[in-house]
Formats: sequence, C-alpha cells, structure tokens
Amino acid sequence: MATARSGPRIGTAKVSIVGAGSVGAAVAYACLLRGTANTIALFDTNAARVRAEVLDLSHGTQFTPACRIEGSDDVAVTAKSDLVVITAGAKQQPGQSRLDLAAANVAITQSVTPRLLAESPDAVLLFVSNPVDIVTAAAIAISGVDDGRIFGSGTVLDSGRLRYLIAEGAGVAIENTHAFIVGEHGDSELALWSGATVGGIPIDSYTVDGRVVFDDRTRAKIFHEVVRSAYEIIQGKGATNLAIGLSTARIVEAVLRDQRRVLPVSSLQTGTHGVRDVCLSLPTIVDAGGADRVLEVPLSDDELAGLAESAATLRNVQKSLGL
Ligand code: LAC
Repeated sequence: MATARSGPRIGTAKVSIVGAGSVGAAVAYACLLRGTANTIALFDTNAARVRAEVLDLSHGTQFTPACRIEGSDDVAVTAKSDLVVITAGAKQQPGQSRLDLAAANVAITQSVTPRLLAESPDAVLLFVSNPVDIVTAAAIAISGVDDGRIFGSGTVLDSGRLRYLIAEGAGVAIENTHAFIVGEHGDSELALWSGATVGGIPIDSYTVDGRVVFDDRTRAKIFHEVVRSAYEIIQGKGATNLAIGLSTARIVEAVLRDQRRVLPVSSLQTGTHGVRDVCLSLPTIVDAGGADRVLEVPLSDDELAGLAESAATLRNVQKSLGL
C-alpha cells in the first residue's frame, strides 16, 4: 500500500501562478471555477497586467466557490504556496515550434525557480511554459529537486485532444475513451494506439455497423490533427490558452486533493522503457507530492521506437543548452 505523501487539505490550499498572460489567466480561471484552492496568487513582472487580472477574477468570485485572489509584481506574493504553476515565458508565434523557445524560456526558468523555492521551500512546482519538457529539466537541474515535486504538464492536453477526436469518431462520451499521447509535448510525441480503448473495447476492434472505425488511415489522420492542433489555434487566435488552462487545473487538483490520478505528465525519467535522464511524458501517478510513480504501460515495438526517438530529440536539445 503506497503511503500517502503529505499534502494540504483542500480549502486551505494556496496555488500561485507565475505569469499573468493568457495561459496564466486561463489556469487561474479554471482553478477558480473548479474550487481547487482557497487562495490563488498571481505573480507577473507586469504590475498593471497582474492587477487587471486580479481585479477581473475577484469580481467574479461571487459566482464561484470561495476563493481569495491575490497578485503582485513581487515574487513574495507566492510565499507559502502549496503548489506553484509556472506559465511565464515567450510563447509560440505562428509557424514556430515549441523547441524554438527553449533558450529564452530556460533562462527565465533558471532565474525564477530558486526565487520560488525560497518563498515556498516545500511547494510542488508544475511547469507549463514551453518547451515544457526542457523547461522542467532545467528547473530540476538548477534546484536539485528530483523527487517528482518538480514536474511538467507534459502531454495531458495532447491526450485530451486525442480522446476528444476518438470520442467524436466513435460517437461516445469522451469519458468512455482511454488513450495516451506520450513523449515530448511537441512534434516528436506519439500516440499509444496499442492501449487505446472505446468503452473497454480495444480501439482496433471498435466497429460501427460492422465497419472498423479507427483503421490505419483514420488513426494517422487523428494523430496528425493532435500534433497540428496548437499550430492551427495559434494561427487563428494568436495563442492556445483555454484547454491548457483546463488541463492544468486538472493536474493541480490531482496534487491538492492527493488523488493519485494517472496522468501523462512530464517528469525526469529513471529508466521506464529504457528512458532516463530526460524529462518527457508517460502515464504517471500524480499525488500531493507531485509526479510519483511512472507506470510501465505495455508498448508495441513501434511505440517503443517512437518513444526512444522522442527522448533522443529532447536529450539533444538539453545537451545543446548544457542541461
Ligand atoms: C498547446 C500548448 C500549451 O499545446 O503547447 O496548446
């Protein structure tokens, strides 16, 4: 029986969010609506921006579960957090890959991480800034905190996109589809079709009127749509923020409520499927201590090869940045 790691009781929890841009605001809004924490604190170096977001959120608190909203351009506003979500950094421009942001956002991460831990030495740090796998690795390296308390949002959103498209294709509720995207939160990610199910039926056996719905061509089309989603949304509205806000709030809840939910978050790998010394996403138990145990879900030979390729892509970027 796993011993429950200590964690805050909901209702006393403080979540701080670093970065009051469109993603940080969406995370705050989603946490507020879901009643995830008792206090939400926003930190951003742009004082006017953080004040505006605090006011706008506070004005809505009559319509949400009780929650106090705070904010400042001083990192001290994050003091004594139970969990800190980091969304600060440059965002993808149309046509830009997430890995293109690595140098700039790693520098921000290396500067802000020690300051956040000085204010909240025991907090769980959840990185969302992209490239989230590289940024998470940088935070772990600079802090030396490698027990899972520092981890990244990984491919939780990508897996949500995959499950949405499977549900649409199958004509069933999304809750009855199960599938993971793993590896890099980015272009080298892969779908674990071998373990995907619809209503408990293996996806390659799921039929409607006797016809297999998810044949190779359909699966390839769905996966392409998952990988290209962010690029399409960025082209259309300048950034993605709503779904990443919702998926991050889901992860926050798993930590603050010590739920031991299995989520494909990004953590420092220690050998599962032969992957080590790189941060990437695999199904992981998430609890009050952050990313706990990585589950060794069965992979096909192709999936093992795809995971190794994704790990190599990330390791090359880490090496280029001296991580
Ligand atoms: C996306 C961003 C969060 O995939 O990378 O929408």
